[in-house]
Amino acid sequence: MIDDLDTQMATLKELVANKQASAEPGAAKSAVLSPEDRLNQRKVPYTVAVTSGKGGVGKTVATVNLALNFAKHGLKVLLIDADLGLANIDVVLGLSPEHTIQDVLSGEMSLDEVAVEGPEGITVLPAASGVAELSNLDETQRLALMDHIDRWNTDFDVVLVDTGAGISPNVRFFVLAVERIMVVATPDPASVTDAYALMKVMFLNHRVTNFDLLVNQVQSREEALDVYRTLNKVLEQFLNIGLNFVGFIPQDPQLGQATRKQQAVTQLFPEAPASKAFAGLAGRLLKSWVHNRHDDGRLTFFWRKLLDDSGTTPNS
Ligand SMILES: Nc1ncnc2c1ncn2[C@@H]1O[C@H](COP(=O)(O)OP(=O)(O)O)[C@@H](O)[C@H]1O
Ligand SMILES: [Mg+2]
Repeated sequence: MIDDLDTQMATLKELVANKQASAEPGAAKSAVLSPEDRLNQRKVPYTVAVTSGKGGVGKTVATVNLALNFAKHGLKVLLIDADLGLANIDVVLGLSPEHTIQDVLSGEMSLDEVAVEGPEGITVLPAASGVAELSNLDETQRLALMDHIDRWNTDFDVVLVDTGAGISPNVRFFVLAVERIMVVATPDPASVTDAYALMKVMFLNHRVTNFDLLVNQVQSREEALDVYRTLNKVLEQFLNIGLNFVGFIPQDPQLGQATRKQQAVTQLFPEAPASKAFAGLAGRLLKSWVHNRHDDGRLTFFWRKLLDDSGTTPNS
């Protein structure tokens, strides 16, 4: 599997080399622009994969609520349901997509035909739920999907990918293709252990080090920090890498209620504790992204992490 991924990366890098030649130079920075304006100015979207070691920890909830909050900031958001085995973004948002990513892969449809509009004008790429053959795409399919998305639309400001849980080749592929990786964990010990296992594999096999931790379903800030400290300690001790704590979301019955009504808590109960936490998290992420961003603006989005890995991007 690892060889398989390495081959994919080599192929992608070759493709990127061709793209680079025809790309434009980056836009000039301005110190007076708001975080939203600066993200808007970027020629490549900010890409984030939301992932976890264990299932059921709140990846889909986090992806959807962050997407809605970014949209409220005026950003154009693409949400990709890449949990190809257990897709459910459409369910959580009460959407009824007629088509799915699978129709694009089979060559029958374009992404425009498959994409659906969600609340706040976000664009959702739905995955087919429970389709066995989709839960493990082969190399050609993964590359084809990336290529479709890459060529499709360049005016998204943020692309959020809801990956499956664990360390399947699909998850690893999406995680390798994005700029930031947000690992969701809960205080449940199994979730913490599995989050460590995921980061360990991504680091040892692919040298991924840019992990952001979101702790979900906590009773208190202290409980969230405990999860962070535990994970940070083992990552530092055994792998010598750090972990970036981005925030926490409280256990919130209103979130459960919203899920049962097939709506995002952000939309249904904007004043709920979880909604406020997601709003705060989105605002902080926006600021940190702008602060950390590379200003090269030369590549379309999925390619850049792969390029960074090769050490060929001057600003990385
Ligand atoms: N902060 C929270 N408070 C209450 N319930 C939550 C919270 N986060 C997630 N849930 C519930 O947990 C379940 C799993 O969440 P989901 O986002 O589907 O997990 P995943 O995508 O990681 O499998 C859902 O029923 C959701 O409503
Ligand atoms: Mg999910």
